[in-house]
Amino acid sequence: SIVPVILSGGSGTRLWPMSTPERPKQMLALTADQTMLQLTAARACGERFDAPIVVANARHATMIEDQLAAIGCRPQALILEPIGRNTAPAIALAALCAVEPDAPLLVMPSDHVIEDVEAFRAAVNAALPMVEQGWLVTFGITPDAPETGYGYIKVGEAIEPGVHRVDRFVEKPPLTVAEAMVASGDHAWNGGIFLFRADAFLHALAQHEPDMLDAVRRSIAEGERAGTHVRPATLPFSEAANQSIDYAVMEKADKVAVVPVSMGWNDVGSWDALHAISKCDPAGNAIGGEVIALDTNNCLARSDGVRIAMVGVSDLIVVASGNDVLVLPRGRSQEVKALLEAMKSAG
Ligand code: GDD
Ligand code: MG
Repeated sequence: SIVPVILSGGSGTRLWPMSTPERPKQMLALTADQTMLQLTAARACGERFDAPIVVANARHATMIEDQLAAIGCRPQALILEPIGRNTAPAIALAALCAVEPDAPLLVMPSDHVIEDVEAFRAAVNAALPMVEQGWLVTFGITPDAPETGYGYIKVGEAIEPGVHRVDRFVEKPPLTVAEAMVASGDHAWNGGIFLFRADAFLHALAQHEPDMLDAVRRSIAEGERAGTHVRPATLPFSEAANQSIDYAVMEKADKVAVVPVSMGWNDVGSWDALHAISKCDPAGNAIGGEVIALDTNNCLARSDGVRIAMVGVSDLIVVASGNDVLVLPRGRSQEVKALLEAMKSAG
């Protein structure tokens, strides 16, 4: 059966003040009653799936176990990274911990929304025969805007029903390039979801990033294991190059395929993205928590504590969490990152 691998190392900085280093985006219930981590685990659950391998920052161990236990999910391994080295080393840890070397691993970011879970599972099914033959498969999302925060895939000829060769990867292109690729009709967004046999991935990593694989291997050998907890040793792990799977493997490997799929995917990277996918009231407001809004239009307002009261405004984002309040016009939520930098330098 398929082994889900859930990556939970990101920090979701653009969703401040709700998303914080202590409790990042994937551990928040932003789009439903369940947190994004819980939604991810539930998506790959059932007969065809083993218990997941979760790879996360060590500081979140308890929060992750509690959230998964709340939906009846017990990971077969919880790999606790001493520091984040990006997705390639994180996935290598999981591949090395897989019990069956030829098990298909379904690598999933913990912080995406997929509305059509049936379409997602069908795409996984379509990919499996190629995966069994050692191919590395990624899932391609039909782009509906020239997003510059995603990787793009040029979709090549079909090799199996629903499975295509990857002509090339282009990671986070500038806007003009992104516009041309969306217009071309033969490019997909890289959804950051992958399916491959553990041994096929490790083989490709050995070929293209042997030092990284070696560092990750040593970090497990020299690390600790207690029950389902795996704690790689800090020193060899920090020697692994800080690289995404896209750069380290997918762009370089030979047998790389893409399954194009339309499944209501969104990486919910910003408050604007959340507003866009939220069910809004008739005035276009996406409201969460204690919010009173009179004569208010097209706003996103969320609080997890203090009461927000607003009147006579439109196109605003207002988010209150703990001691922090964020206010900005809609359309500018990418600038939260810059805001955080400014706050850091201000002390
Ligand atoms: N365990 C672990 N350790 N997880 C990590 C680490 C790490 O060091 N770094 C990132 N992750 C997790 C994040 O939590 C997220 O779920 C996923 O891996 C992807 O990492 P991001 O940092 O969010 O990548 P990105 O959004 O910049 O780009 C990737 O995803 C896009 C789609 O959302 C690329 O694959 C792009 O090509 C793709 O379009
Ligand atoms: Mg991301």
